[in-house]
Amino acid sequence: MNVLIKGALLYGEGEPVDVLVADGEIRQIGTDLGVVDAEVIDARGQILLPGFVDLHTHLREPGREDTETIETGSAAAALGGYTAVFAMANTNPVADSVVVTDHVWRRGREVGLVDVYPVGAVTVGLEGKQLAEMGTMAAGVGAVRMFSDDGHCVHDPLIMRRALEYANSLGVLIAQHAEEPRLTKGAVAHEGPTAARLGLAGWPRAAEESIVARDALLARDAGARVHICHASTAGTVELVKWAKAQGISITAEVTPHHLLLDDSRLETYDAVNKVNPPLREASDAAALRQALAEGIIDCVATDHAPHAEQDKCCEFAAARPGMLGLETALSIIVRTMVEPGLLDWRGVARVMSERPAAIVGLDEHGRPLEVGEPANLTLVDPEASWTVRGKDLASISNNTPFEAMTFPARVTATLLRGRVTARDGKALGNRAEA
Ligand code: DOR
Ligand code: ZN
Repeated sequence: MNVLIKGALLYGEGEPVDVLVADGEIRQIGTDLGVVDAEVIDARGQILLPGFVDLHTHLREPGREDTETIETGSAAAALGGYTAVFAMANTNPVADSVVVTDHVWRRGREVGLVDVYPVGAVTVGLEGKQLAEMGTMAAGVGAVRMFSDDGHCVHDPLIMRRALEYANSLGVLIAQHAEEPRLTKGAVAHEGPTAARLGLAGWPRAAEESIVARDALLARDAGARVHICHASTAGTVELVKWAKAQGISITAEVTPHHLLLDDSRLETYDAVNKVNPPLREASDAAALRQALAEGIIDCVATDHAPHAEQDKCCEFAAARPGMLGLETALSIIVRTMVEPGLLDWRGVARVMSERPAAIVGLDEHGRPLEVGEPANLTLVDPEASWTVRGKDLASISNNTPFEAMTFPARVTATLLRGRVTARDGKALGNRAEA
């Protein structure tokens, strides 16, 4: 089925245009395109962007299908405007073998709502001791292009050095969860006045920053690339800025929750606010917003981390860290970056689509809105306003820290290779290949 998007503003700029999508591509861009036999989307007042790319998603399959599956997580992604997501390796079994990474890839294709790219583990069992068979995973049908022990830090410097060297020769990316474990033993919240007053064990900024600094130097010496997951401190921003100025191949992502929230949220002891790295101070969030605007931090990644009620509605120390992110990401970027004038819609396309696609070398995503390009697209209503209700989200889990908050802007449609995967709040299953 062809799709005709009528009256959209490309990147929120210029005059409204019609966009005809056929055979998975953008076929025509013009005014007053009249086409028979096309699904017509009335996009007046709406903004067309390249489909979003999330470098950091936890889909929980295999192993914790009670909290999320590739199918439900893909639906959440499509509804959030995503056309590609990277599924983290901390599943059960761990995605440290081609059997698991290929399964994730195949299941993503079967569901067909979003391109699910498996992330392979750097070390066997995420234990940080022995390198996983990265080459075999990279050569599988799932063609793993990013490796991470996320949830854990590759903390042994020699293992990290070898991983970077090996990744370099394979042409793949290592994404580091920067957390020196010796400094975060028992830690549950950002180390600062709030945690001290509340009696919560602190996770110091230095635990993140010392690994960022170390890995920048290891990447320099190996001539390799390193990507920093969920940057959370002003100091990390300074280190990434310094490393880039040295010509080191370092990139970094920031989550919507670290841009919007801070550790004042801990007052209630509600573990919905527990996340790793923890919510920092307001000054850190401000530095992260500025760094994202300036391109020091390259992109937004959700760290979408579904958890079961029993793993969240319990004492703070026992709760698991993580929060939902896919369906709220765009609105939070509009609230924290677009409304204050830090980014325009071109900038949103850059940080949510183009840069993440480029970091992992995707050639079908994050492409310009031009004739002949793959039709991986997101349509946004900038005037919409909506209130988050965890129970209404497509995720199986409900652990959103944004419950009952009202946000601007909403994704009204998502297209994956020309097929509508979400429209007006409904994810649309795999029709083309069914
Ligand atoms: O908050 C987090 N949750 N941070 C991580 O690094 C892992 C993630 C998870 O898997 O729940
Ligand atoms: Zn992580």
